[in-house]
Amino acid sequence: MEMKGLILSGGEGTRLRPITHTSAKQLVPVANKPILFYGIEAIRDAGITDIGIIVGDTEEEIREAVGDGSAWGIRVTYVRQEQPLGLAHAVLTAEEFLGDSPFVMYLGDNLIKEGISSLVDQFQAMQPDAMILLAHVSQPERFGVAELDGERVVRLIEKPSEPPSDLALVGVYMFKPCIFDACHAIEPSWRNELEITDALQHMIDHGCHVEPHLIDGWWKDTGHLEDLLEANRIILESLEPSCLGEVDKESSVTGRVVIEKGAEIINSTVRGPAIIGERTKLVNSFVGPFTSVYYDVLIQNSEVEHSIVMEKCVIRGLRGRMEDSLLGKNVEIYRSPQRPRAYRLMLGDNSRIGLA
Ligand code: TTP
Repeated sequence: MEMKGLILSGGEGTRLRPITHTSAKQLVPVANKPILFYGIEAIRDAGITDIGIIVGDTEEEIREAVGDGSAWGIRVTYVRQEQPLGLAHAVLTAEEFLGDSPFVMYLGDNLIKEGISSLVDQFQAMQPDAMILLAHVSQPERFGVAELDGERVVRLIEKPSEPPSDLALVGVYMFKPCIFDACHAIEPSWRNELEITDALQHMIDHGCHVEPHLIDGWWKDTGHLEDLLEANRIILESLEPSCLGEVDKESSVTGRVVIEKGAEIINSTVRGPAIIGERTKLVNSFVGPFTSVYYDVLIQNSEVEHSIVMEKCVIRGLRGRMEDSLLGKNVEIYRSPQRPRAYRLMLGDNSRIGLA
């Protein structure tokens, strides 16, 4: 039977506030492409075209960005989850959409560099009840962790204080419809979520075949700022340099740099890997390695490195170099000519600024 896809793009995104007070974290651009789009493409490339997207409070924004999916040659069905009550709850919310089809579930804030085509092939060839992806990580206590006995999964624990292994659950799972019985059977956890780890444990305890697959390629759960910057670094390093914008004679562009349509580089230096978005303008500025500047941004008399700058930001006259930063949409940073010289800020709830 034809497989379906289920992308989870609801949730609260508490770890990425204040960005997530107003926007979906799955739409933060990594190398100038929303994270969610990487997931959509990975599923599409695995030959799956019937895709459900779980949405919450940011439904409108996700709908606007993805539309009906025809831009990718897929068909998208939006499934509203009224509250983010856990990954297994999301599966239950989509029960009607998924029907009898086996499906791949993909967490919308995850990035898997190698894609998932070979994993989907393997799932279809082996036909286990579930397939989970595992990766060795340095801080397993931050993840769902698997305990294996040889090739067999014996236990799955969500964010354990004493992890039994360093094998974290990667945010992609494949299931046969028997997952629904497990999701119906379990109770909410201490954090009041229906945990997918508990559902999988229920399957294991009831004799289902849960197949582990260790991935060795690069994978990132972009829940934190640091993870986003790392994902940005890695994707930027794989871009093909190109220039569809304008670079004047006084400017210098070196290394792996993508300059998108309508961008203008005036008396500035761009040192790759970096990407400069559509209609963005750099004037008397420096953009250093591992920087993604999205569309309609102005950077003037300033230096920016190792950062993600979202659309329509304005950065003018900074004295020091801005590094390791994520700026949301429409953010403005400038040196104020006003006296007395002082920091004048208007920051949203939970903002973070580090001043030199
Ligand atoms: P998480 O990152 O585990 O949860 P979260 O988005 O609430 O973030 P935070 O922990 O910072 O508060 O979620 C993984 C993905 O699944 C993410 O894309 C959001 C999505 N999700 C849902 O769609 N529904 C849910 O009930 C939950 C918990 C997550």
